[in-house]
This record gives sequence, C-alpha cells and structure tokens, in this order.
Amino acid sequence: MTKPTIPADLEQWLSANDQRIHDELFEFLRIPSVSARSEHNGDMRAAADWLRGKLTAIGFTAETIPTAGHPVVLAEWKKAPAGAPTVLVYGHYDVQPPEPLELWTSPAFEPTIRDGKLFARGSVDDKGQLWIHVKALEAHLATRGTLPCNIIVLAEGEEEVGSENLEPFIRQHAQRLACDAVVISDSTMFAPGIPSILSSLRGLAYFQIDVTGPASDLHSGMYGGAVVNPGMALARILATFHDARGKVAIKGFYDAIKPFSAAVRKGMKKLPFSDVRFKKEIGVKSLGGEPGYTTLEKLWTRPTCEVNGLLSGYTGEGAKTVLPGKAMAKVSCRLVPGQSPAKIEKLMKAHVKKVAPPGVTVHVQHLHGGHPWRAELDGPIFDAARRALRAAFGKETVIVGEGGSIPVVGDFERILKVPVLLVGFGLPGENAHAPDEWISVANLRGGMRAMAALWDEYVKA
Ligand code: BES
Ligand code: ZN
Repeated sequence: MTKPTIPADLEQWLSANDQRIHDELFEFLRIPSVSARSEHNGDMRAAADWLRGKLTAIGFTAETIPTAGHPVVLAEWKKAPAGAPTVLVYGHYDVQPPEPLELWTSPAFEPTIRDGKLFARGSVDDKGQLWIHVKALEAHLATRGTLPCNIIVLAEGEEEVGSENLEPFIRQHAQRLACDAVVISDSTMFAPGIPSILSSLRGLAYFQIDVTGPASDLHSGMYGGAVVNPGMALARILATFHDARGKVAIKGFYDAIKPFSAAVRKGMKKLPFSDVRFKKEIGVKSLGGEPGYTTLEKLWTRPTCEVNGLLSGYTGEGAKTVLPGKAMAKVSCRLVPGQSPAKIEKLMKAHVKKVAPPGVTVHVQHLHGGHPWRAELDGPIFDAARRALRAAFGKETVIVGEGGSIPVVGDFERILKVPVLLVGFGLPGENAHAPDEWISVANLRGGMRAMAALWDEYVKA
C-alpha cells in the first residue's frame, strides 16, 4: 500500500475545513426531502434552494429549474482555460421515506455520528455523496480561485421515484449540458478501503397489481367458501412468478438477455466475496435465487422479479374474520442488458392475464422503469479516476457491478453521447432505503480527497 497523497493545498484546505464541511452537511441532511410524499413538496423546494445557495457561495452560477415534478438544481462554472474539457457531476437531493420510524436508533432527520458512522436518511443515498463533490469543488476554488476544467453540477429531486422528468429535461437542455464526461457518486465501494468503479447497473420495471373481488369486505363466515378471496387470488398469481428452482417463470423473460462477457465474469470471481459474511450482514441462514450462479453474478448480472409490498384484509392487532374485498401488490423486476422495461411490461401483463383466477378482476399498472447499463471503462476520465482514487485511498481500484438502478445513467450516455464514471463512496451494510442509514465518515473524507484530486488528474491525461 502506498501512502495516500493528494495535492498539498487541497489536502490542507479539506483538513482545515473539516468541521464546517460536516456542519453544513448536517444542515442539508436535516431537510426531509422525501420525493415520494407530496406533504414534503415544501421541503423539496427548501433542499433545492439550500443546495443552490451553497453552489452559488462557492463560486458557481446556480439556479433551481422547475419541472413537472420536483425542481432540478443546475450550476455551472465555466471559466477554465480555453480548450479545457467540461464534466457534468450528477447527484440527487431527494431521499427515500424514513419509515418505519420506530426502527431508527436516532431520528432520521437528526444527523448523528456514532462509531465513525454518520447516521441520517440521505447520508449515503445521496446527499452525503453529492456533498463530497460540492466540497471537492470548493477546495479548488477556495485555494486556487480556479478549476482545471469546466464543471456543470446537476442535482435532481426525483431519483428515488424513477427520474420521470429528468430524461425530457436532459433532452431539452442538451446544449447547455454538453460535456466530455459525466461523473456520479451514488453507489458503494466493494469493501472498506477498496476504491471501486462501477461497470454495470441493473434496470427496473415496477408494477402495481390490484385484485378486486366483492364490492366491499365481507364476513368470512357468512360468505367465505362461496366467494373468491382476492388475497388468495393475489397469492396464487404471485406464486406463479417463479418456478420451483427459483427461476422467473414469466414466458420470454430471459429471451433477450445479452450475457456478460467471460472476462467480466472472471473478474467478478476474483473479487474477495464471502457468502458467509454476506449472510451474516443481512441476517439470513441461507441464500436463494437462480441456481447455477454465484451470489455476485446473481446480484449484478441476472434479472429478478420481487414483491416489494403486499396489502390485503385485516393486519391489525388480534383477529378479525373478514374476507377482503381487494388485495394489492407492488412488484418489481430488476433488468439486465438486453431487457427493456417496455418489453418486460408486455410480458408481465400477458403472464398475469393468463394466470389470473376467475372470480376476481386483476389490473396491472406499470409505475416506472429504467434501462440497465453496462460500460467499457476506457478513456481519460476512468484513467484519471483510478489515479485519483489511488492518491486518496492508497489502493488500486476494483471494477464492480451493481444490482441497484440509476435510470438516468443510460439517458446521459444516449442523449449527451459521453462516458459516465460511477465512483461511489458508500459501503456494504450502510442501510440505504432502510432505518439507520449511514455513511462512513472516513469515506466522506476519502471521497472528497479523491474527487478533489480527480480534476487535476483529468486534465493531465
Ligand atoms: N443509489 C441508489 C442506486 C444504487 C444502490 C447504486 C446501491 C449502487 C448501489 C439509487 O438512489 C436508488 O436507490 N435507485 C433506485 C432507482 C429506482 C427508484 C428507479 C433503486 O435502485 O431502487
Ligand atoms: Zn436510493
């Protein structure tokens, strides 16, 4: 291991300002910017305005731009020497709902540090990681009064609800967003101390399935046995999604998949992954899924169909003899290259139509989707990132895949026609989307140093 070293002026500034950097991040994390809930619309605007203010304060020209949903924060610094490249940094200021609140050790929107972990909703996904970039940029502007390349910062408020309005936004502002590369920190490192660059993300097709039966709930003694139970009908439908071996049984589901190359699969096998540690981390005795694949292959290279939520009948304390009038499930498929949300929507609808039992009405609605993404990691931005990560973390970078989705990554590539660097500073087990979400304070510091070093490295190329 080589000793971590980034340029002395940047290191000195980041060290000297460490407390303020944390204090300001705490302010950001205290704003409950939950994009999924309309009661938080005011908080969404407050978070966007707060961020615009910070970007303005460090020397960017920044504005919040309304969309059909939550506003986009767009900031620019374009005073680099002639011929310098332009990079777009993307992040999201919205967060997932914090519920169930009672499972948080400290309140979701009162940031608290315990054992080197900063706990708060949005700490890792993605306010903390977005903050890494803001402060890395400030380090340059505050110490040198300049940056080696032009920078656009685009922060959206709808990532956690499918980024519906961002694709049209990027198309509409394509000229203004023109750049040479996109950089995103909204993912995790493979393990503590091991800097990681992502080479793939899964896509998503998200559904709501509604089953309706009798006009209202019924007495299960007076009617049960003679009336089809929507809860049971839904259970039957869900049970057809997989076969006994754990493969998805929706006709055509796997047909279009473009397999990962042998080289990528070989690289994956080399990563020090332990099923035993993985099981311990999530608290299960055994693992499941498709037979014939390693756990990492299942997570990064194979599609899924999962129930995300179920609702029917009486779920309160004690017993209530009722035959529910309706049942609902939220179901989502993670997709891999070759699959598309539109095609999977067709297959899902055809499948449910085929298996829906008589006596109930079944409705499948596609809520949102995103394309999968896989990239070749060649070019100056990737080389620069490897050097910057080595400088900050003192270790070589590993290339990893990811099971989660960031729908906009493919949009950037397609519309702006530039490479996208995904370099994340989260860690496994950091509880994104769950109670007690945290980010490692060491990674916040390391991330800021790496991203500050990135801009110097990028123009060296
Ligand atoms: N930051 C995550 C995606 C992610 C998770 C990347 C873990 C790498 C590791 C992102 O904020 C997210 O949660 N995305 C959603 C997208 C969906 C709502 C379209 C997801 O994956 O569920
Ligand atoms: Zn998320």
